[in-house]
Amino acid sequence: MALIEVENLSKQFRVARKPEGGRGRLRRLRRDFADVHAVDGVSFAVEAGEMVGYIGPNGAGKSTTIKMLTGILVPSGGRLSVAGFEPSRQRRELARQIGVVFGQRTQLWWDLPLADSFDLLKHIYHVPMARFAANLERCVELMEMGEFLRTPVRQLSLGQRMRGELTAALLHDPAILYLDEPTIGLDVVAKARIRAFLTALNRDAGTTVLLTTHDMGDIERLCRRVIIIDRGGILYDGALDPLKARFAIERTLVVDLEEPAPPLEVPFAIVERVEGPRQWLRFQREQTSAADLIAAVARAAHIADLRVDEPSIEDVVLRIYAGGAGERFSSTPSPG
Ligand SMILES: Nc1ncnc2c1ncn2[C@@H]1O[C@H](COP(=O)(O)OP(=O)(O)OP(=O)(O)O)[C@@H](O)[C@H]1O
Ligand SMILES: [Mg+2]
Repeated sequence: MALIEVENLSKQFRVARKPEGGRGRLRRLRRDFADVHAVDGVSFAVEAGEMVGYIGPNGAGKSTTIKMLTGILVPSGGRLSVAGFEPSRQRRELARQIGVVFGQRTQLWWDLPLADSFDLLKHIYHVPMARFAANLERCVELMEMGEFLRTPVRQLSLGQRMRGELTAALLHDPAILYLDEPTIGLDVVAKARIRAFLTALNRDAGTTVLLTTHDMGDIERLCRRVIIIDRGGILYDGALDPLKARFAIERTLVVDLEEPAPPLEVPFAIVERVEGPRQWLRFQREQTSAADLIAAVARAAHIADLRVDEPSIEDVVLRIYAGGAGERFSSTPSPG
């Protein structure tokens, strides 16, 4: 059995619709309701030790899924098993197995020094002293938190607080760590620190990580596997590399010629931009290789320098989001 098993999971929210142009009391009393299908038949499994990116556009259903996996929300349908527990029915048992960070919320006490928040969590979760001390020491060392352990949480920078949040989630060394936008609002240095920490955690402690983010850098650096969800349904579940190969069809050859020239005319490429001696040639992976194209350009002009631009993972994901829920991709079996 996989560590996390999600089968045909769904969640609807009943929301009040504003009465349209209605007048009078009766109209107001007869409120209209609509069901939002936040999560709509999602199935996946995560094996122990995996680090999986759970991504999708705003409102896709990511946070709702994570809330059901932690037991905060009760599913409307489907089956869930996390570390052998049914989250919403066995929240207390599950709490020992999971750690959670919601980037937009805090689990720390605003007015207390960080260290005191950790102490309180130790008591709340009955973490044995030795384990608490070892976990805290490791986090403090790896995330360089020594300098601000005595600082009240409200005075911490966002990057410092996020390191505190991660530590708080890990004091009882959970088998599973759920992260909902852990790098939101952080600068590049702070992001890099958190990514390095998560890599080490996954490698050394074998912690299973399910990560939600809008930062494709997080995904590229951390996750071999991604699950893409949109409008409550899964669009893709599989390795990141084949996804790139499949959607990153168009590449660009950027050549610096020895002198300015009119747009080059070479087979299988379109000049999309010219700036002095530099030209941008767009070409498709299936039609020609970069080597063949470069040879063709070299026959037409003298090349001083060149590079080949691959589409970024952002471009790839953008294309998939734009395709939307109408297009679901067959997935390759995920790495176990
Ligand atoms: N408590 C709630 N009551 C009503 N609707 C909700 C509630 N929580 C979420 N929704 C709706 O469910 C859908 C999915 O929301 P969710 O927060 O899971 O999206 P998300 O993928 O986490 O988006 P984001 O990237 O913006 O965080 C949205 O349409 C949202 O408005
Ligand atoms: Mg969210």
